[in-house]
Amino acid sequence: MSGSRRPLAKVGVLLSGRGSNFVALQEAMLAGEVPAEIVLVASNLPSAAGLAKARDYGLPTLGLSHRGMSRQEHEEKLIAALRAAGVGWVCLAGYMRLLSPRFVQAFPQRVLNIHPSLLPSFPGLDAQQQAWDHGVRVSGCTVHLVDEGLDSGPIVVQRVVAIDDARHPDEVAARILAEEHLAYPAALRYLLMQSWRLEGRRVVASSPEAVSKKPEKKP
Ligand code: GRF
Repeated sequence: MSGSRRPLAKVGVLLSGRGSNFVALQEAMLAGEVPAEIVLVASNLPSAAGLAKARDYGLPTLGLSHRGMSRQEHEEKLIAALRAAGVGWVCLAGYMRLLSPRFVQAFPQRVLNIHPSLLPSFPGLDAQQQAWDHGVRVSGCTVHLVDEGLDSGPIVVQRVVAIDDARHPDEVAARILAEEHLAYPAALRYLLMQSWRLEGRRVVASSPEAVSKKPEKKP
């Protein structure tokens, strides 16, 4: 890359489970593949394995149970913590709570999610099982901007996985997960390395020349 160093984007990760996608993002950032740093990892489940992994990396974490709180109250606390950490981008990585429009609007076009299917097929829970039950021959994963619907926002990156020879839904899930770990860092890198805009539902990136320096045109 040429001279001008862009500042690292500050990313907040929300997770509820094992956090393998968080680890993929963190490793890609540590390797310099994504110009970003994770400044907070938060969970609605204080015992989430992903939070422990974040602590192992020495990252700031927040375990904020949603129990005994309204959705609004919980989200307000989350938003406040993310803002206090200076977060510009929020990456959902297995966060098992629906986010209200209020949360999405707090970080406009800056909330990303990863879903284990080729959206718009199989939104919602158990996408890999849905793919297995449906008998599709290929599935995959999707990284998308989060809008106010369920797994319905503009698509950034998709990766396809052949599953016609899989023998069990767990095998489908494992194959898709391996692709997720490539797709999430790729999507964040894509959005951070160039300017882009939405045309309807489509994420349209500027030409690659806009990323590197354009050679001066001599008359
Ligand atoms: C992934 O399959 C992701 O697509 C879905 O939740 C799962 C999270 O896995 N949204 P992990 O916690 O990142 O390992």
